[in-house]
Amino acid sequence: MLKPLTLALAISSLLMSGASMANNLTVGFSQIGSESGWRAAETSVAKTEAAKRGITLKVSDAQQKQENQIKAVRSFIAQGVDAIFIAPVVQTGWEPVLEEAKDYDIPVFLLDRTVDVDDNSLYMTSVAANDVLEGEVAAHWLVNKVKDRDNCNVVELQGTVGSSVAIERKEGFDKTIKDVKNIHVTRTQSGEFTRSKGKEVMESFIKAENNGKSICAVFSHNDDMAIGAIQAIKEAGLQPGKDILIVSIDAVPDIFRAMLKGETNATVELTPNMAGPAFDALISYKEKGIIPPKKIVTKSTLFLPKDAAKELEIKKNLGY
Ligand code: AHR
Repeated sequence: MLKPLTLALAISSLLMSGASMANNLTVGFSQIGSESGWRAAETSVAKTEAAKRGITLKVSDAQQKQENQIKAVRSFIAQGVDAIFIAPVVQTGWEPVLEEAKDYDIPVFLLDRTVDVDDNSLYMTSVAANDVLEGEVAAHWLVNKVKDRDNCNVVELQGTVGSSVAIERKEGFDKTIKDVKNIHVTRTQSGEFTRSKGKEVMESFIKAENNGKSICAVFSHNDDMAIGAIQAIKEAGLQPGKDILIVSIDAVPDIFRAMLKGETNATVELTPNMAGPAFDALISYKEKGIIPPKKIVTKSTLFLPKDAAKELEIKKNLGY
């Protein structure tokens, strides 16, 4: 006996008789907000990728609040969308609403962040980077850069508290420097992934660390906080990228502009095109019943100042 969902898929495939279903699909996307340049790019790329495929995309901005995301998901369920995309602001607390989506046979796709649930059948797939690897790549760059120094005190600007990306980026960085004798993380605090908070926290680190003179490097969980830190370092009369090294994550255009001015040293790529692979997986599932892998992993390439001009051009051509 065919399960109702399999039967529905088979019938709708027959009805479509070879024509693509994509232009009949409606997807609800619960987006976190617009805390960073990367986030704004992710939203705009999602809209472009939906339009390319003839998919109707409804975006709901949660303004950094999980409760708003849960409300949005419930509203998408009530509207009977074909799929729900969620960029989960924090890792925990998702089971009840994911179970509701499952009860209505609405597949959920996680974008760029993951959730902590016992039952991973509550979502279809997640499109995200290996966030532990991102932290490792950043740390390996630093280990090599300061290998000839006796000591390097690092200050860390963490992302949103409780988010999978902040937890895992920290884990990857800490794991890599654990046995490295000359590197120590002396201060760590959340800058909430925003430029303004990144600057504010960096100012307090500078005050506490001999007006910045005892800081060797900044590990920032994203580029926007790094840009805030650059501002704080300059205002303290120091040269970012020289007196204080900076490594961050995202690879947004503004960090490449800062690299071209010699104000930052390295960034790890996080593609803002999380929705494209999710749309493709959704279409294959709806048209052919193909279940995607549980995790679709995006690249974590390290970019240095020598790559900045080329990367800026690439981003410009991609429209972000
Ligand atoms: O979840 C991805 C992170 O969220 C990005 O690194 C950061 O810029 C964003 O706000």
